[in-house]
Amino acid sequence: MLEGPRPVRPSEFPGLLRLVNRAFIGNTKGKGMELLYPWHLGRENRHNLWVLVEDGRVVSHVGVTKRTIAIRGVRIPAGLMSAVVTDPEYRGKGLATRLIDFLRARHDREGLDLYLISGNRDLYRRIGAAPVGCRLHFTLAPTSLKLFAHPEVSVRPARPGDLKTIARLYAEEPVRIARPDVDFRRVYHAGWAALSAARFYVAETESRVTAYFVAGVSRKAGGPVDGRLNVIEAGGSRTDLLAALHAACGLWHKRRVELSVSAHDRASLALLTGRHLGERRVPVYDSVAIVNLERLVRRLKPLLVRAAGPAARRLAGGEHNLRPFLEAGRDRLETSRETMAHLIFGEPHRDRPAGLHPTGSLGTILRKAFPLPLANPGISYV
Ligand SMILES: CC(C)(COP(=O)(O)OP(=O)(O)OC[C@H]1O[C@@H](n2cnc3c(N)ncnc32)[C@H](O)[C@@H]1OP(=O)(O)O)[C@@H](O)C(=O)NCCC(=O)NCCS
Repeated sequence: MLEGPRPVRPSEFPGLLRLVNRAFIGNTKGKGMELLYPWHLGRENRHNLWVLVEDGRVVSHVGVTKRTIAIRGVRIPAGLMSAVVTDPEYRGKGLATRLIDFLRARHDREGLDLYLISGNRDLYRRIGAAPVGCRLHFTLAPTSLKLFAHPEVSVRPARPGDLKTIARLYAEEPVRIARPDVDFRRVYHAGWAALSAARFYVAETESRVTAYFVAGVSRKAGGPVDGRLNVIEAGGSRTDLLAALHAACGLWHKRRVELSVSAHDRASLALLTGRHLGERRVPVYDSVAIVNLERLVRRLKPLLVRAAGPAARRLAGGEHNLRPFLEAGRDRLETSRETMAHLIFGEPHRDRPAGLHPTGSLGTILRKAFPLPLANPGISYV
């Protein structure tokens, strides 16, 4: 008989890791996901690793890391959902759907407002997830970066003693995943971020660390991958960051740098856009689902009032018969969960959901207040 959904038990942990590792890294030898993503799949997050079990065997799993998303002073409790897997013999029977439906209701009761989901498939679309938001991806040749070179800015691999400064620089980002400092140490020691082996580097000016970046490295040599420098996350002074990336190209003989910049990161965009640097638009996270619209709107209120004025105080959200709605006074807009995610976190103009033309004061509020920026996952991606 199928047991669960419930958090994985200590005795079932090795079986869970075998299931996850076989699905995502193809074997169970070498470094497993529990070592690459210890904050997500380590034993201390066990109570957030939800399973269905048959005869002591874990047959389906959904993992969640709970973090807060900071958006310009407002804090939104969120779940980072990843390592979703069902044993191949049990697929197509609705097990993952059952876990996710159960978790959505439970996390709603616990006060989570958003899911950032690693993946974009029908399984997640059933709870209203959609790839939303916008990052601009730049592929920069050393010749383009030369513009930002500065003789006083140098680059070097980060040392454990730099991690506090790195965490502080990240904490100054107005839109971010609010991480405990220990997350930086875990990623540093795991030597892995997003989907590759990775290392922290810092930009130094007059012996002071003013910016940092995390870049993919080759597993064997431990240095940046030949030819291309893939920046997974960066923070701190944008001018010093770009100067450090230029210095890195020279030191490591890079032919190009891959760098993603959030659409709300005006400091970076002021430096990079309009220079024909070949930017591409990519979504912020694989997909994003709103767990509780009513609470989300309440939490966002200070931001909405700042953007749209006192009229936004009357804005309220909710869900009726699985259809989310927004209303202000007598004006009301009702739509699907997916479209609502686009409306609130989508890309300005491009993502404006087709067919939605809110009028009256509601229309004015929505146009002024949305979309809101979302944090790049960076090293928190699993
Ligand atoms: C993706 C994955 C987790 C889905 O797990 P699952 O338990 O098979 O998921 P479900 O059974 O709930 O849903 C799978 C399909 O079965 C169908 N299904 C659901 N309930 C069903 C039922 N009772 N009878 C028949 N089919 C059913 C659904 O239509 C669904 O198709 P859709 O998602 O394309 O709409 C699983 O295929 C897997 O482990 N893949 C490898 C790892 C992976 O890719 N993980 C996701 C990373 S984003």
